[in-house]
Amino acid sequence: MSQERSDTLVLFGATGDLAHKKIFPALYAMVAKGTLNEPVIGVAFDPWDLAKLQARARDGIVNAIGSIDEKIFARLASLLRYVSGDYRAPATFEKLKTALGSAERPLHYLAVPPAMFEVVVQGLEQSGAAQGARLMVEKPFGHDLQSARWLNRVLHLVFDEKSIFRIDHYLGKEAIQNLLYFRFANSFLEPIWNRNYVESVQITMAEDFGVEGRGRFYDEVGCIRDVIENHLLNILLLLAMEPPVGRSADDLIDEKVQVLRAIRTLTRDDVVRGQFDGYLNEPGVAPNSPVETFAAVRFFVDTWRWQDVPFFIRAGKSLPVHATEVIVRLKRPPLDVFDPIKPGECNHVRFRIDPQVAISIGARRKAPGDDMVGEQVELTALDDSKGDMPPYERLIGDAMNGNGQLFTRQDASELAWRIVGPVLGDTTPPPVYTPKTWGPAEAMAGFGPPNGWINPAK
Ligand code: BG6
Repeated sequence: MSQERSDTLVLFGATGDLAHKKIFPALYAMVAKGTLNEPVIGVAFDPWDLAKLQARARDGIVNAIGSIDEKIFARLASLLRYVSGDYRAPATFEKLKTALGSAERPLHYLAVPPAMFEVVVQGLEQSGAAQGARLMVEKPFGHDLQSARWLNRVLHLVFDEKSIFRIDHYLGKEAIQNLLYFRFANSFLEPIWNRNYVESVQITMAEDFGVEGRGRFYDEVGCIRDVIENHLLNILLLLAMEPPVGRSADDLIDEKVQVLRAIRTLTRDDVVRGQFDGYLNEPGVAPNSPVETFAAVRFFVDTWRWQDVPFFIRAGKSLPVHATEVIVRLKRPPLDVFDPIKPGECNHVRFRIDPQVAISIGARRKAPGDDMVGEQVELTALDDSKGDMPPYERLIGDAMNGNGQLFTRQDASELAWRIVGPVLGDTTPPPVYTPKTWGPAEAMAGFGPPNGWINPAK
């Protein structure tokens, strides 16, 4: 596959929820910036016409950004085409082939349920539409190691690894890019970024809403598969990886893979699960479902740098706030020269990922007054997120340009499933927690980083 830009975007699942909420707003933003000028062929089962797809795109854009510039939308609408048909029918792909016209390097974006990946990929191959093409696939990429391996085999029958772009939209977030940049564009962190100074790492992804009409999907995945195995584990990798030797996609991914290889496979003792009270009444959720809506997980990275440093990840629905945050807590000073420092009150680095992007250094300073008594303060660099490029815009652009840096490579996708494998599919009913609390209090007692969790503020 050459590095040439894809000359058409084919969007499978064009009438679906993801396209409506995220993909059309991203395409609109790209058109506004002049970074998308190629045809966009929507494909879906619904017997719509182009006008209906355009109306749906408009609705998604207005919902996402509150307004629409008619000139920009007219440009996007003029790029759109629509092919309707069953993914299992060769005729659908014949129509697609016709719509592709003289396109030589399409990017096929599978925003469809994973159960359809194989069918679509085969349809693409049989019709010749896979020729010279790239493939972008949405999460979830499998539901365990076996299914991920199988999926990889299915995709590789038609596409080589360099032409496959597995999405984890978290990697497209500005704050995640910033984390990587901050770690490796500064030298002051490096001397302390290891087991000699770091006491623990904690990553919290709190959502103050439930499953929002996605009960059926969520009940098949649960919290660990939904956000821990992918989004949050990826944050851990960026925190734990060694500096990449260069800027290529493989340079970066090679270092992440080294960390994945060093992460201990989880056992049930490494996990506390919870389910919010009321989950079982959500539409689409099975009666007595044992699926977790909250999980706290302890990881260890067996390397010289990180041996014995616990990395905790905690995520859940119906928690008190909507925020994603990382705390790298440093060990306390060896001696209290002045006032006694309370456990947990020492230095830390805080990366705020969502909703704002911020990096803070937690430190002690002398409180005003006669006594040599200190107080905890934070030095914060805050970005109000204005002008940030939304993840889907960045990722679609990168995939069209053949840049795989922010996508998950085959080995990484399989290693991540290896790590979480033993804690998936637990059929024991998880302890129930009251919505708007930090998970199941009793089960969480004593489980967490030394000196406790730090709950992100609103
Ligand atoms: C998705 C999960 O991948 O990520 C959702 O399926 C979750 O359950 C979402 O809410 C969070 O992503 P973001 O970008 O909206 O914070």
